[in-house]
Amino acid sequence: MSTEINMVVAIVGPGAIGTTVAAVLHEVGHTPLLCGRTPRDHLTLQDGDRLITVPGPIQTNPIQITRTADLVFLAVKSTQIGAAAEWLKVLTGPETVICVLQNGVEQLDRLATYSLSGQIVPSVVWFPAQTQSDGSVRLRGDVRLSLPDTTASRVVAKALQGTRCSVDLAANFSSLAWRKLLQNAVAGLMALTHRRSGMFSRADIARLTLAYLQECLSVARAEGAELGDEVPQEILDKFQAAPADMSTSILTDREAGRPLEWDIRNGVIARRGRVHSIPTPVSDILVPLLAAASDGPG
Ligand SMILES: NC(=O)c1ccc[n+]([C@@H]2O[C@H](COP(=O)([O-])OP(=O)(O)OC[C@H]3O[C@@H](n4cnc5c(N)ncnc54)[C@H](OP(=O)(O)O)[C@@H]3O)[C@@H](O)[C@H]2O)c1
Repeated sequence: MSTEINMVVAIVGPGAIGTTVAAVLHEVGHTPLLCGRTPRDHLTLQDGDRLITVPGPIQTNPIQITRTADLVFLAVKSTQIGAAAEWLKVLTGPETVICVLQNGVEQLDRLATYSLSGQIVPSVVWFPAQTQSDGSVRLRGDVRLSLPDTTASRVVAKALQGTRCSVDLAANFSSLAWRKLLQNAVAGLMALTHRRSGMFSRADIARLTLAYLQECLSVARAEGAELGDEVPQEILDKFQAAPADMSTSILTDREAGRPLEWDIRNGVIARRGRVHSIPTPVSDILVPLLAAASDGPG
């Protein structure tokens, strides 16, 4: 199968999410330019029994880029945007679309500080993918993205047409992004306890989680998200129904001693709460603990 489009597509940040998107494009004969930090010859995606190898090499020096791309997928962690901005500067022109494959609800605001000339498309990334010890990436679900229903998003949808990444152009994008954020915010508790999903079967943790989610819901609604009263319990139910040993990327980062995406996943609730004069007593305790766990000192 081959896509009929002829766009230059680049992936900045060929990690778990970046490798997955690179592989679905490569499968249809549309291999993207790979821009990373660690030199490698190729990327490997493991999907069940299938191995998909995306040929490289991974470019590691933005100076070597001689032309702009039509579409850039930015898939670094939010803590890595500053360094990755060097790639965006050389890859983007006024017509370039930058699709941000990151968690959070502030993707536009964060990139706005770099004065890039392209058009930025935020996304909700719904699929889990995990880097293995050998550097390959294991895909753990159907590949699916939600994007706002805009002209720039249609460029992304067109590039992924015919691949097995389904793209939903959502009229209620902001509500979807906030719903995913609430889920991500709760996962921050796992980074603090160093425990997997089993911890949510404790009655005290379930109470704390619901109190935190109510706080998050108030802030999300003040930001315009349309989320019902049932959302906190639904999110807690999901964590409780998950296998007891299910991990989450913020816990994996904590276990590896890497910086945590605490600000876009948890700090945002307190920050946006302050803007709307909404008290955030749970965040006021959680956020400094997550920040210190991530960034020290000590
Ligand atoms: N993984 C998931 O299941 C999942 C699901 C939903 C949303 N997300 C979100 O998606 C985003 C990406 O997550 P991820 O799990 O894919 O992260 P990741 O596996 O850590 O991938 C990040 C990649 O960016 C590379 N990188 C770091 N600095 C760079 C730079 N200056 N220039 C170019 N590349 C650079 C890293 O290189 P190195 O190899 O050198 O570290 C790595 O390959 C995060 O916001 C995450 O929260 C992840």
